[in-house]
Amino acid sequence: MNPAPNLVLVGPMGSGKSSIGRRLAQRFGLAFFDADREIEAQAGASIATIFECTGEADFRAREQIVLAGLLAGEGAVIATGGGSVLDPRSRELLHARGFVVHLHVDIAQQLARLARDRSRPLLAGGDREAVLRRLAEVREPLYAQVADLRFDTAAMGAAETAAKLGHLL
Ligand code: S3P
Repeated sequence: MNPAPNLVLVGPMGSGKSSIGRRLAQRFGLAFFDADREIEAQAGASIATIFECTGEADFRAREQIVLAGLLAGEGAVIATGGGSVLDPRSRELLHARGFVVHLHVDIAQQLARLARDRSRPLLAGGDREAVLRRLAEVREPLYAQVADLRFDTAAMGAAETAAKLGHLL
């Protein structure tokens, strides 16, 4: 593995960052952190509640701070939130402090994986496919910008993806 201090997974909602990250951490004997869960723990509230009560801008500020804190450490696998690459400071830190893997997933797979999910405020109501396409347009170039490796999760489950990715690293 590259000598970067952390292994970081970026990619859109439903790309499997958390489930794959947990498995990779186990495989390599590293600590695992899920940035979304850390934000919730620090705020004492769910992401949906943060969005509802204080808005997306407040969530993004919290996300930047939590990610910077996680990246300051070493030897961890870190699953980021899908929007973590929006902040230029976060992109710089990701690049400097992580070996960054971009988990790619196509929109159809995303829709299938997130079909029963009600925890993501950006997907609450409206046309999910249109939302995911719009997010991808803005974010795919940013994932590419920070990534050391792009890995297509295609139709694989988390266990298979983690095993294949683990061989590559
Ligand atoms: C978001 C993705 C979510 C979570 C929040 C916002 C986004 O994380 O951070 O709902 O902007 O794409 P996952 O990518 O882990 O679903």
